[in-house]
Amino acid sequence: MSDVPDPFREARRAEGVLGLPTDRETIPMILRHEDVRKAAKDWHTFSSDAPYRVPIPSEEHLRSVRQLPIEADPPEQTDYRKLVEPFFLRAKQPAFIARVEAITERLLAEALARDSIEAVGELALPLQSRALTVLLGVDEAEAERFIGWGVHVFHHGDNGAEKGKELEQYLNEQFDKAAAAPGDDFYGLLTKTLFHGRHLTRAEQLGFANLMFAGGRDTVIYSVACAIGYFAERPEALEFLRADPGRIVLASEEFFRVYMPLTHIGRVCPVDTDVHGMTVKAGDRASLCWASANLDETAFEAADEIRLDRRPNPHVSFGFGAHLCLGAAHARTVMRTLLELLCKRVERIELVSKVDRVEHTQAYDRPLGYESLIVRFHPREA
Ligand code: HEM
Repeated sequence: MSDVPDPFREARRAEGVLGLPTDRETIPMILRHEDVRKAAKDWHTFSSDAPYRVPIPSEEHLRSVRQLPIEADPPEQTDYRKLVEPFFLRAKQPAFIARVEAITERLLAEALARDSIEAVGELALPLQSRALTVLLGVDEAEAERFIGWGVHVFHHGDNGAEKGKELEQYLNEQFDKAAAAPGDDFYGLLTKTLFHGRHLTRAEQLGFANLMFAGGRDTVIYSVACAIGYFAERPEALEFLRADPGRIVLASEEFFRVYMPLTHIGRVCPVDTDVHGMTVKAGDRASLCWASANLDETAFEAADEIRLDRRPNPHVSFGFGAHLCLGAAHARTVMRTLLELLCKRVERIELVSKVDRVEHTQAYDRPLGYESLIVRFHPREA
């Protein structure tokens, strides 16, 4: 039986590509594992130097700055990335992990004390909002504001533009404070750092910070909520991890593989390009479909089965090549810590009710995660 819905299976096997019609263009989605990895390395053909147009749908109306370093190609992207990479890698350090542990312990204790909780809004959202304050190096109280923004920092819904403006205003305030007295937080780093011998402009600073919120929130929130949902639907799974805690790292990777929150990410073709038989006109886009590559049966044995001890697991949930996700260490710390503490503190998670979430498009419907997931946590006796 298949554990993971795979809306791309037929097209991946037959053509390796699926056309996604949009207002401006039909975007060929590259579906096979090998092809996605190849395209991710070929920025001359598939370029990220396209402000607002790397995400699909594009985000001209949601922000006024180019996100960095994601909306740039090497060598410019490589130089931008170097400025912030050490900051992101702090998520691997024991002191960082200990703080995420403390946040997770508190949230699980609250969940255990209640009859039931809604795991997306009351567990995954506060967990990642608080963990993000650790990554940003700001006071944990700031998380209340992030929680107030909800799961999406800007949604492609009716009030997306409004939420986008609110985020930019918030970030401008943080950079104003840092300009007056730069501290050791993310805003201070971007204020003090030199890029090619000069300070970053405000637009560049905002571009880095905007991506931190746009890329670093709903992705982790969905991954965490999906993991909780998985344990709620498979009571034996926590026992399986407890039997060999070495499986926690493998299980985290498997959750990232099958619950990839970002179905695909765009690239612009600077010249007319043939993508598996579909023509992309110069200036139009193709996309790298990570979600399909992760389920490619030529790269994964029993690809549509969730195997919590899968190894090797060459998933592309954190991308591939030059733009490999800078937040991966953070996401891994959050997921692994959660699984460890669930094993220690929780005997079983009971599903009370759920409303599935589906990404609807003109080319595919992809079920992913939950609009709402109500669960009851049963404590593990010490
Ligand atoms: C499960 C969680 C996450 C997933 C699945 C994910 C996925 C991705 C993917 C696929 C890319 C490559 C984009 C491309 O090639 O165009 C990427 C890049 C990036 N991600 Fe993540 N991400 C996650 C969490 C985070 C977090 C927590 C942060 C920060 C708080 C973050 C920040 C970034 C940044 C800054 C880049 C751009 C790197 C570059 O262009 O050099 N991500 N992410």
